[in-house]
Amino acid sequence: MKYEITPKELEWAQQTWERLERKIDAQNERLGSMMPYIPVNGRYEDMGEEHLAWWTNSFWSGILWQAYHATGKQAYADNAAAVEERLDRALEEYAGLDHDVGFMWLHTAVAHYRLTGNEQSRLRGIHAAAVLASRFQPAGNYFRAWNHGEDSVAIVDCLMNLPILYWGSEVTGDSAWKKLAMTHADMALREILRPDGSSNHIVAFDRETGEVTKKPGGQGYGEGSAWTRGQAWAIYGMALSYRHTGKQEYLDASKRTAHYFLANAALMDYDVAIDFRAPAEPVYYDNTAAACAACGLLEVSEHVPDLERPLYVRSAVKLLQRLTERFCNWNPEEDGITTKGSARYDRASDREVPIIYGDYFLAEGVLRLLEKDFLIW
Ligand code: GLY
Repeated sequence: MKYEITPKELEWAQQTWERLERKIDAQNERLGSMMPYIPVNGRYEDMGEEHLAWWTNSFWSGILWQAYHATGKQAYADNAAAVEERLDRALEEYAGLDHDVGFMWLHTAVAHYRLTGNEQSRLRGIHAAAVLASRFQPAGNYFRAWNHGEDSVAIVDCLMNLPILYWGSEVTGDSAWKKLAMTHADMALREILRPDGSSNHIVAFDRETGEVTKKPGGQGYGEGSAWTRGQAWAIYGMALSYRHTGKQEYLDASKRTAHYFLANAALMDYDVAIDFRAPAEPVYYDNTAAACAACGLLEVSEHVPDLERPLYVRSAVKLLQRLTERFCNWNPEEDGITTKGSARYDRASDREVPIIYGDYFLAEGVLRLLEKDFLIW
């Protein structure tokens, strides 16, 4: 087996997938092509109606494509394809799109194309990659993250958007997008990741000169802190850049961030807080970070020598087991699986709630352990 987990861990992963599948089945009946984000009173609302270009709008589709790949159930593929069609208006209108076109179309069109070869999906994926490429800033060598604010910023999250450019270069045969993605990843090595293995969230640039002007706090506790989902994006994102390019510095950076993450998570018995550098009290959790980090650790484990692998696999299993033991809602009558996810530190309404991307990474992590996943990134 790829990850060499124990028979007991395998049994746990199988049972967890059965629970996930029951929940996904129930949600598939209720949600159809909805774009869920955070449930209200146990029920998802359609974020696509309110904000079609919202960055999380494709994670439900990602869950469905993973589940389709694992089970072959056509009802999953049908709803995922319907989400993808709904997003066409966002591509046509262009308004509101930002660097998160990677998340949005990797989990819809690119996944659809990878699993079925659908031509329309390939074209949608290429359009989305072109939108991300158009955000490249030659002064500073980065992809501009957001459209709002006075500053032009790059954020650690963007490492997870780069794979749409690696994919785009692969399918078009033009290496230009891959080179741009690597230029951004190189900037992240210099300016976003810190030497101790922790990561900034945001780096701001002077738009004219490309000079770094500041590294403000973002969705974590504050300036200089260590927002855990950002650390998870760095682990997974750098490992993915290594997968697609073979550049050793990316894997080394991913491992450094992983070691920083695990040293801190161990102190909290693998219950992951929103920020490793927030005050000790009150503790606010973010299980989306735990689930995403677990997937990143499994990705790292695929690129290291045999004797290094157990550290990453054992730790990923530990994070996922802790999460499923303490923080999952398995009631099929209620939407949302992973509880206590946090979108950001400073907004109470977005703290310790179920969030769709927590569920995506939980499903991906468990399917990875069962070797029933496919690479969506
Ligand atoms: N990419 C935005 C976030 O992680 O909240």
